[in-house]
Amino acid sequence: MPGEKLYEGKAKIIYATEDPDVLLTYFKDDATAFNAQKRGQILDKGKINCAISTHLFQLLEAQGVATHWLATPSDREMRVKALTILPLEVVVRNRAAGSLCRQTGLPLGHILAPPLVEFYYKNDDLGDPLLTPDRVRVMNLASPEQMDTLRRQALHINQILVPFFASCAITLVDFKLEFGLDRAGQILLADEISPDTCRLWDQSTDDETQRVMDKDRFRQDLGHIEQAYQRVLERVAAQSAKF
Ligand code: TMP
Repeated sequence: MPGEKLYEGKAKIIYATEDPDVLLTYFKDDATAFNAQKRGQILDKGKINCAISTHLFQLLEAQGVATHWLATPSDREMRVKALTILPLEVVVRNRAAGSLCRQTGLPLGHILAPPLVEFYYKNDDLGDPLLTPDRVRVMNLASPEQMDTLRRQALHINQILVPFFASCAITLVDFKLEFGLDRAGQILLADEISPDTCRLWDQSTDDETQRVMDKDRFRQDLGHIEQAYQRVLERVAAQSAKF
């Protein structure tokens, strides 16, 4: 039985549990894009994202990355450590896409080596603006030491996820991470890692539309969204079984 509803976001609901150090995350089918100007539902997305995130958190934990994941008691629910979430979205980019192409003119798919790490302010009213180190300092969002840790952690996670997705014949184009602090002040990976929060391109085709296996299918009305998410899950599950 979930406890009190603590927070409802665009894609998930957070409940209290019997343990103050543990929360229950419920994954919804609701999808939004462009700061919730576009809304819809993706059938069974909650189940698929819960399963993909579970596989990826377990993979990362096995490689020594501290995450909030504790257990996945049902197909839409995850038990996670209660953390104080930092109001930052940490984006890692291996190839140019999305806002990077729009804001810089870099061509879609341009390889970024070394990968680009960016910080955005998690604030819907402001439209999640891109931050600079000086803005983070002025806004007191994180200490310089915490920023160093976030950057290192994000790159380390990228180094684990890129070869894992490659083994699934998927290119990890970019992804967004969120982190939180436990009682001891330790930084842990939080939120989810799923086709909602990553750009994933199918390596079996170069076709710009067909290769998209992530929320860009919803953002850009490309169709076959559920099937694309399902295909990511099938490949991730098959590869996870080998670890
Ligand atoms: P962007 O190109 O729109 O800045 O997105 C970069 C990556 O971050 C992409 O994989 C999608 C993900 N993302 C989220 O998970 N949540 C968001 O609110 C946004 C804007 C992007």
